[in-house]
Amino acid sequence: MCGIMGYIGNQEAWGIVVGGLRRLEYRGYDSAGVVTVSGKALRLARSVGHLRALEDANPEGLPGNIGIGHTSWATHGGVTEANCHPHLDSKSRIAIVHNGIIDNVEALRAELVAKGTQFRSETDTEVLAELIGRGVEAGLSLRDSVVAALKRIEGTAGIVAVDRLDPERLVAARIGSPVVVGLGEGACWVASDALALRPYTDRMIVLDDSEIAELTPNSIKTVDLEQRSREKRVEKILHQPEDADIGQFAHFMLKEIHEQPVALDRTLRGRLDASIGNARLGGFQTQEQRLFDIRRVVFFACGTSLYSAQVGAYLMSRYARMPATAEDAAELSVQNPIVDRQTLYVAISQSGETADTLVALREIRSRGGLIAGITNVVGSSLSRETDFGMYVHAGPEISVCSTKAFTAQALGTELLALRFARMRDLSANDGRLWVEALERLPQQVRLMLEHASACRELAERFCNARFTMFVGRGPNVAVAGEGALKLKEIAYLPAEGLSGAGMKHGPLALIEPGSPVWALVPPDETRERMIGNLRELKARGAFIMAVAQSDDSEVAQIADHMVPLPPHHPAVSPILNVIPLQLYAYYVALAKGYDIDKPRNLAKSVTVT
Ligand code: F6R
Repeated sequence: MCGIMGYIGNQEAWGIVVGGLRRLEYRGYDSAGVVTVSGKALRLARSVGHLRALEDANPEGLPGNIGIGHTSWATHGGVTEANCHPHLDSKSRIAIVHNGIIDNVEALRAELVAKGTQFRSETDTEVLAELIGRGVEAGLSLRDSVVAALKRIEGTAGIVAVDRLDPERLVAARIGSPVVVGLGEGACWVASDALALRPYTDRMIVLDDSEIAELTPNSIKTVDLEQRSREKRVEKILHQPEDADIGQFAHFMLKEIHEQPVALDRTLRGRLDASIGNARLGGFQTQEQRLFDIRRVVFFACGTSLYSAQVGAYLMSRYARMPATAEDAAELSVQNPIVDRQTLYVAISQSGETADTLVALREIRSRGGLIAGITNVVGSSLSRETDFGMYVHAGPEISVCSTKAFTAQALGTELLALRFARMRDLSANDGRLWVEALERLPQQVRLMLEHASACRELAERFCNARFTMFVGRGPNVAVAGEGALKLKEIAYLPAEGLSGAGMKHGPLALIEPGSPVWALVPPDETRERMIGNLRELKARGAFIMAVAQSDDSEVAQIADHMVPLPPHHPAVSPILNVIPLQLYAYYVALAKGYDIDKPRNLAKSVTVT
C-alpha cells in the first residue's frame, strides 16, 4: 500500500506533507509527489525515486497552506514522472492522490477519450481525477463530484482531492483503502496510516468503507455515498511519536527484533488470569455463547501471518482438542469455502489491510460465518470487518520484514487456544502452568536475544551458502517456514523450511557437505524424531545449527553449534525458537550489504490480490 498525506490549516503545507510521507516511507515506493494550492493555482512537484529526490529538486518546497502528497508503487504503466501522483484533471483544476486499483478503468478511460480527454499518464488515478474534474467543471461541489465519481468506479480507492478554485477544503474518501483524519486546533491532517499523523495530533477519526469526509481547518463533515450524514467517534492515536524512530539501531528490523519482549508483554497485558489458569479476552466475552458451540477453528492469513496461524492451529488441536487448520487466505477465497455455524474463522494480519485476507474474510462473512480477527493495527479494515477480535499491540512494525508481529500474533493464537482449551478439557492446574509459562515468556525471549553475536558469527560464515534448510516438527514446522521466509526475503538466499519428516521425501537430496541447516529441537514430544533427523542430516555432511534446551547433551553432541533454550512450557517453544532465526537472517542480509528494511520487490502490505 502506498502512502497518502494531506494537510489544511494555517501553516505551510509542504513540510508537513513531506514529513508525513517520510513516516510512511517504510511501506516501500518508487516515486513521490506533492501538490499545494497557492493563489488559486495548483503547484505540483513529482519525482521518480525517493522522497529525498523530490526535496532535492524542490529545495524551497512549494507555497500554500493546503497540500496533498503521495508515495507510490507503480501499478499502471512504468515508473515515470508522468505516472507519479498527484494527478490532475485535464483542465488542471483539481488534483488527487489515490491508493488502490480501479478495476473498470479501461471502460471509463475509453468513455472519457471519446469525450475528448487527452490523458497524460497511463494511470487509473488520472481517470478518476478526470471524472472528478468534469464534475466540478459542471458546477458540482468538490464533495459532490467525488461522490459521483466514486459511484462510477469498481475497485478500491483511498483518495484525497483538492480544487484550486475552492482552496478552503480537502475531500477524502475511503472505498476499501484506509483513510484516517487527524484533528487539531485550526488544522486537519489526512493520511493512509495513523502513524503519519502522530507528530501533529493524538486525535483522529477513521473513515469506514464508503465514507467521504470534507475537511476545512475548523470542521469535518462525513457522509456516505448516498450523502447521508455519518456520526464519527473521535479515537485516540495510541502510537507514541518516537515509535517510528529508529533509535540506536542500524535498522528497524533489528530494533523490532529487540522490541519483542516489550511487545509480547503488551500482547499479554491484562489478558492472563493466573488464579483460574485462563486467558481473559475482552472481545470474546461478547460471543461467549456462540463460542461454546464451536467445533472447528479455521485460521487464515498470508505470509508470516500464515505461519503464526499454523502455530495457532497446532496449539488449538493439541491443547483444546479442537479440529483446527491454517489456510492460505488467497487460496481460501477461491476455493468456495465450506462455511458452517459450528466453525470459528480467525483472520490474522499485521496490517489488517492484506487484500487476499480481506477478500477471504468478506467471502466468509457473506455466507454468515463467525469471524474473529487478530491484528496489530488499530482501526484497520480487518478490525472493522470482523465480528470480534484481539489487537496484539506490538507497536508499529516499520521494517517490511515482519518479526515482532509474528511472535505477537503467535502469542495471540496461544491466548485463544488457552481460552478454548479451558472451555473444553484442559484442567485448571494445567491452565495455570500454561499461564505461568506465558508470564515468563517476555523475559525468556530477552534471554534468546542474548545469542545475537553467535547468530552473527554463523551468518557471516554462511552468508554465501547456495541453500539453507530449516527443519522442525509439530508447531515448529511453522517456525522453520518462517525462518526460511526471513532469509529469502531480506538476504535473497534460497531456503526451505519444512518438517523433519518431509525432509526425507525429497529435499534431503539438496544437502551436501557443509550445507547449513537450522534444526529446532525443543524438549517435547517431537525431540526423539528430530534427533533421528539430525543424524540423517549429519550423515550427509550438513552443518547443523540446533536450537535445543541448554542441558540437552545428545543434541549438543550431534550439532555443530547449539543455541540454548531456557526450560519452558512446550506451548511457547515456537516463540523462543524463532528468535535466533530472525537474528540469523538479519545478520546474513547485513553481511551482504542489502537494504534490510526495504527488500527489493516487496511492500509492507500487499493490498492487491
Ligand atoms: C514477511 C511479511 C509478509 C506478510 C504478509 C501478510 O516478513 O511481512 O509475508 O506477513 O504480506 O501481511 P499482513 O500480516 O499485514 O497481512
